[in-house]
Amino acid sequence: MNTRDPSEQAPRPTDRPKVSRSSEARVRSDRYERAFDLIREHFEREGSEPVAAYRSPKELHEELDLGLSAEGTADEVLFEALRSILARTPRTTSTRFFNQLFGGRGDIGTIGELLAALLNSSMYTFKAGGPQVLIERELTRRMARLAGFEEGEGIFTPGGSMSNFTGMLLARNVHQPRAREEGVGGRRMTVYASQLCHYSIPKNAGMLGIGRENVRRIATDERGRMLPDALRRAIGEDRSAGCDPFLIVGTCGTTVLGAFDPVEELVEIAREEGLWLHLDAALGGSLLLSDRARGLLAGCEAADSMTWNAHKLLGVPLSASVILTRQKGHLFGSLSQKASYLFQSDEDDYDLGTRSIQCGRRNDALKLWAVWKSQGDRGLATRVDRLLELARYAAARIRDIKGLVLAKDPESVTVCFEVEGRRSEEVCELLRREQRALVGYGIVDGRRVIRLACVTDDIEESDLEVFFEEVLEVAPRASIGDNAVAPEE
Ligand SMILES: Cc1ncc(COP(=O)(O)O)c(C=O)c1O
Repeated sequence: MNTRDPSEQAPRPTDRPKVSRSSEARVRSDRYERAFDLIREHFEREGSEPVAAYRSPKELHEELDLGLSAEGTADEVLFEALRSILARTPRTTSTRFFNQLFGGRGDIGTIGELLAALLNSSMYTFKAGGPQVLIERELTRRMARLAGFEEGEGIFTPGGSMSNFTGMLLARNVHQPRAREEGVGGRRMTVYASQLCHYSIPKNAGMLGIGRENVRRIATDERGRMLPDALRRAIGEDRSAGCDPFLIVGTCGTTVLGAFDPVEELVEIAREEGLWLHLDAALGGSLLLSDRARGLLAGCEAADSMTWNAHKLLGVPLSASVILTRQKGHLFGSLSQKASYLFQSDEDDYDLGTRSIQCGRRNDALKLWAVWKSQGDRGLATRVDRLLELARYAAARIRDIKGLVLAKDPESVTVCFEVEGRRSEEVCELLRREQRALVGYGIVDGRRVIRLACVTDDIEESDLEVFFEEVLEVAPRASIGDNAVAPEE
C-alpha cells in the first residue's frame, strides 16, 4: 500500500509543463538558422583566412569557452562559443592544406554527411537502416568488383586502420580456425609487410594477439616497393626458426612516398607459401577507377582482402573506409555474434552488424554513394587522374625552382622535397605559425622531407605556385642544417 502523501509523488508524464509544438518548431528553426549562419561565415572565413591563426593548447583554453558545467547555457552563448571554436579550428578544407591524405570539401559529399547525421541511422540492421543498408551494399559490391573480387563482399569500418585490423583478423582466423573460441595458440605467428607499411600493421598485430615483434619489416627498392626476394628469404628463415608465417600485407600507396608494392609477385609468393594476402590500398584503392593508373594494382584480384579509404582521394569527408574480401563469408565467420535483442530478421544478408566490429555503426555510406551517383565511375576517374596530374606538376615545378630539391619522382599523389640546406620540420612549422600553409614532413631514404599531398581537386596549379612561394619566403628563417636522420628514426 502506498503510504506516502500523494502530493509528494513524482509527477506523471502528463503533468509535466507542456512546451507547445509551435514553440518547439520555432526553437528548431531558429537553431538551424543560426547553424546556417555559422556555415556561411565559415565559407567566407576560409577564403579570407585559409590557415587558422596558430594558438598553443594553453592559449586556446584561455580564449575559448570550453568548460562544461552543471547548468546549461542559452543558445546565444552556445552559438557564440561554436563561432569562436570554428574560427580557431585548423582549416583542412582550404587550398592551403597539404598536410595529410585527406582534405578539401566536396559539396555533395558534405551534404551526404549532413543528411546521414540528420537521419541518425545505425547500420547494424535493415530494420534500423532501411535503404541506407542497401546503399552500403551497393557501394561495397561495386568497390569489390573494381578490385576484381567478382564474388566478394565488404563493409564500412571506422577507418583504414580498422579495415587493416579486420583484414588481419580474417587472416588470423583462417590460419587458426579455433582462435576465436580459444585464443591464439601454438607457434609464433609471423606477418610480413614492407618497411614502409602503415603503422596500423604493427599496432594491429599488438591488438590481435600476434605481437608487434612478429611483424617482419621487409626491405624496399629505390621506389619504395617491397622486394619480393627479401620477402621470400624472410619467410624461409622464419620457417626454419620454427615460426608460423600466416600473412603478407602489401601496401598500395605508402603513406609518405605513395609507392605501390608489386602485387603480382606478392600473390605468387602468398600462393606458394599458403599465406593470406591483405592489400592496404587505403590510399591507392581509388586508382582502380582510373584506366591510366589501375595498372599499379595489377594482380590485386587474387588477393584475399583489401583496405580502401574513399575519404583519401574521392572527395568525401572523413571517414569512408571499406574492407573488401575476395570470397564471401569470411566477415560473417569472424565477426558474427548472436544477439537476440538485435538480430531478429530472416534477411540475415541485410543485417550488416553480423559482419562488423562495432554494434551501433555510423552511416559512412550515404555521402560516398551521393558522390558516386553524382559523378559516376567516369567522374571519379577524372578526379583521380587530375590528382595524379597535380602531383606531377608539383614535382616538375620543384625540379625547376632554384633552392628546392625533389626527393624522388612521385609514385602517385604525394610529392616529397627539401629546401636546400634548411631543416624540413622547421620550414613546415614556420608555414604553420605564420598562417601560410599546413604541410607535414616524413622520412625518405634517411632524410627528413616535406611531403606535399595532392589529394583534393579543389586545388589548382596556381595554389601550388602560391604554396611554393610561401615555402621560399619562410625558408631563410629556418635553421641551416642537414635533413639526414638517425637510423632509429
Ligand atoms: C597506407 C595507409 N594505410 C592505412 C591508413 C590509415 O587510415 P585511417 O587514417 O583511415 O585509419 C593510412 C592513413 O594515412 C595510410 O596511409
